[in-house]
Amino acid sequence: MNILLLGSGGRESAFAWKISQSPKCGKLFIAPGNAGTTQYGQNVNIKVTDFAGIGEFALENNIGLVLVGPEEPLVKGIHDFFLGDEKLKHIPVIGPQKEGAQLEGSKDFSKAFMQRHNIPAAASKTFTRDTLQAGFEYLATAGLPVVLKADGLAAGKGVLICLTLEEAQLELAEMLTNAKFGDASSKVVVEQFLQGIELSVFVMTDGEHYKILPEAKDYKRIGEGDTGLNTGGMGSVSPVPFADAAFMKKVEERVIIPTVEGLKKENIPYKGFIFIGLMNCNGEPYVIEYNCRMGDPETESVMRRINSDFVDLLQGVAEGSLDKKELTISAKTAATVVIVAGGYPGEYLKNRVITGIENVHESIVFHAGTSMQGEDIITTGGRVLAVTTLQDNLFNALQQATADASRIYWDGMYFRRDIGFDLL
Ligand code: AMP
Ligand code: GLY
Repeated sequence: MNILLLGSGGRESAFAWKISQSPKCGKLFIAPGNAGTTQYGQNVNIKVTDFAGIGEFALENNIGLVLVGPEEPLVKGIHDFFLGDEKLKHIPVIGPQKEGAQLEGSKDFSKAFMQRHNIPAAASKTFTRDTLQAGFEYLATAGLPVVLKADGLAAGKGVLICLTLEEAQLELAEMLTNAKFGDASSKVVVEQFLQGIELSVFVMTDGEHYKILPEAKDYKRIGEGDTGLNTGGMGSVSPVPFADAAFMKKVEERVIIPTVEGLKKENIPYKGFIFIGLMNCNGEPYVIEYNCRMGDPETESVMRRINSDFVDLLQGVAEGSLDKKELTISAKTAATVVIVAGGYPGEYLKNRVITGIENVHESIVFHAGTSMQGEDIITTGGRVLAVTTLQDNLFNALQQATADASRIYWDGMYFRRDIGFDLL
């Protein structure tokens, strides 16, 4: 079967690596891909939001399955686009339709969904420009810190944690009346701050059955010791030691089952991944957010721990037979260290030549923001490479990934040397 994978980040590199190992995979195409994905398949120069171009390519190349990496095409309805076209509707798309993608595309939708299904989450209320005054009043009673979330997709920037009431009121007004995050902040969810430690739980579902993929912890801040600005993710670790069997049982019973059942009850079709961002508050799980896709850089660690044929699992999702498929998970520990461009997450340097990847032997170097320039691999994005290793224990994994990241060089590169060390 020929497979078309959409996206160009570290997540898609890890998918491509895993998919290319499957005996069920014929040709693998990655649109648009990066300098590294050519090791696993053929890059195709089509944007992930060019639905017509993607459809045409899928027909011309006898694609039997489309796997969607990022959220944007899902929220914009790529799955619906395929289903709505007579010639395309037989090609399974992994990733929910527009309605299910609202779990990520609208925080207001996802909060209301959690409330309807009694899924534990922070108390919250949604406000618009017309209810700004009521928003101010709610803020005054909400306690501090308080969390403001733009309703729509805001490239990971739409969440503000405010420490004072003045700051919260100012920001709420900025979001609602001055469109601080554009259309995304025409509605704002005001939410109680949850104290705890975060982790990412991943569920694969065919809409009827589900499988729980390895959980992971993601390190979002740019600086060591979890300091400084938020980024797209500086590293990840899987498994997460505090997510023991007792905790994961609570997650399954209180969050995963009600989520999958809730989608069914509301007749929301869903074939794809549900990424549940959780806060562990003294051993109790609370949902921070849903995403309608896998995480990055969590996928890099998660894929390395899956022993089963991933294409077989994807077929189970497509065909509604996920319950008949086998998911085996390595007991080893995966660690990922992301190397970013100097300046990231602010303005960053581009077009620097990368050297030393060939010196890495004990980790896989997944590419993210890279391109080829002649014979050279150059940097084109903020998050450039993800160095992922699989070792017998957490300590060895962390040491190995960090040591291997140091074997790579370009002008201005940066990575955190403390990924995962808080878990030891
Ligand atoms: P989100 O875009 O929903 O992932 O939020 C970004 C980050 O903000 C999360 O990864 C958390 O670290 C933090 N955050 C979001 N909601 C809350 C909350 N209710 N309490 C504490 N931290 C939060
Ligand atoms: N690592 C967090 C995300 O993918 O949104």
